[in-house]
Amino acid sequence: MSIPFSHFASQVQPESAFTVLAVAKELMAAGKQVYELEIGDSPFCSPPQAVEAAVQAIESGQTRYGPSVGLDDFRASAADYVNREFGIEVTPDHLIAGHGAKIFEQLFCETFVNPGESVLVFSPHFPTYPANIERRGGRVCLQPLEERHAFRPQLDSIKEFLDREECPRAVFLNSPHNPTGGVTTLEDLQGIARLLEGTEVSVFSDEPYDQMVWSGRHHTMLEVPGMIDRTVAAYSFSKSFSMSGWRLGFAVSSPAIVARMGMLMNTSLSCVPPFIQEAGVAAMKESILLRDQQMATFRENVTHLVQSLRRVEGVDCSMPGGSFYAFPNVSQICRKNNITSHGLAMYLLEGADDQRGVACLGGECFGDAGQGFLRLSCAESRESLGDAVAFIDEAFGQCEKIATYLDQNPNYRMAESMF
Ligand SMILES: Cc1ncc(COP(=O)(O)O)c(C=O)c1O
Repeated sequence: MSIPFSHFASQVQPESAFTVLAVAKELMAAGKQVYELEIGDSPFCSPPQAVEAAVQAIESGQTRYGPSVGLDDFRASAADYVNREFGIEVTPDHLIAGHGAKIFEQLFCETFVNPGESVLVFSPHFPTYPANIERRGGRVCLQPLEERHAFRPQLDSIKEFLDREECPRAVFLNSPHNPTGGVTTLEDLQGIARLLEGTEVSVFSDEPYDQMVWSGRHHTMLEVPGMIDRTVAAYSFSKSFSMSGWRLGFAVSSPAIVARMGMLMNTSLSCVPPFIQEAGVAAMKESILLRDQQMATFRENVTHLVQSLRRVEGVDCSMPGGSFYAFPNVSQICRKNNITSHGLAMYLLEGADDQRGVACLGGECFGDAGQGFLRLSCAESRESLGDAVAFIDEAFGQCEKIATYLDQNPNYRMAESMF
């Protein structure tokens, strides 16, 4: 007898990058050479200072439960870090440690969203946002991020959300943006703040790529006076410090919101392991030079990847304002071959060649608004990126192979409404 799953568990969608990663690994295990541009993970080792601090902390017995909001030392170091980076003035009680940035999507929704209340998400969007809103029974309201606006959130979309929805409760922002690379300006943030004044709408500001802004500098909603009282800004060690497997991040908000999230953390994950937090302290204090060198490499790689993609016939690719992703527009190729962009991505991995393949994501992995785009991560060596684009160039030219792949995988055929 099979016991029914909850409605939520029955329809939950995992992050598709992990699904494509699993297919790529399977093909690689079977001997295929795959250029892995599907997952947003740094190719660099974690900072040696962080590794050493973690080992020392384990050896000195920091292996027990700790406070749910985080160790004093971690919170103080993270407060210093954001004050230095963003020119703000927060104290350790504005800080809470978390298991990466992603956990704060859930904690934020648990803190603010009641069943039936509406949450605005700009789309294309990071694929775990809907799951974390729906976990609370919230209503996901999508508004477009468009290439013609450099993938920046538009104030009209927020006005429409506030006017149309019966119970508007929260807005999700993400800058630099995954997958588009769009960067929200300080003026955008100030405009959004003005619109939210006097409402009961809170802001989740997802900022794991804060160190990857390629023109100008990163701006956070925390800079806008008063907004910290309705904003949870989430940061991660995964991208800036190449520590994705450590599962470490933190959020900044008002002390009252932090205390409330601490209680929610207490009822679920208890705390971030203390020795992991010590590694984070060392990274924030001692690995800044290394971090900046690695960010410079990402910037060079993104520029190189974008320039190479622009030379591929049928591909348009704007330079992202931030992040280590390129988000080329391949709609011309999709229309010509009657294939969805995710189908095109899977063709590059599975169908274009028996010996070699490129793993990347179709824009649909980030919602329907991503149709017609691919997302390629530049977290590979320059040489591999060059080889991957040469492979893509050749593969896009082989229309018969695309047609054969589509015959074998008709689910990737473009619906008429997509033309
Ligand atoms: C926009 C966005 N938010 C959150 C995350 C999750 O990051 P973390 O590893 O810190 O949980 C990612 C990771 O790719 C991301 O791109």
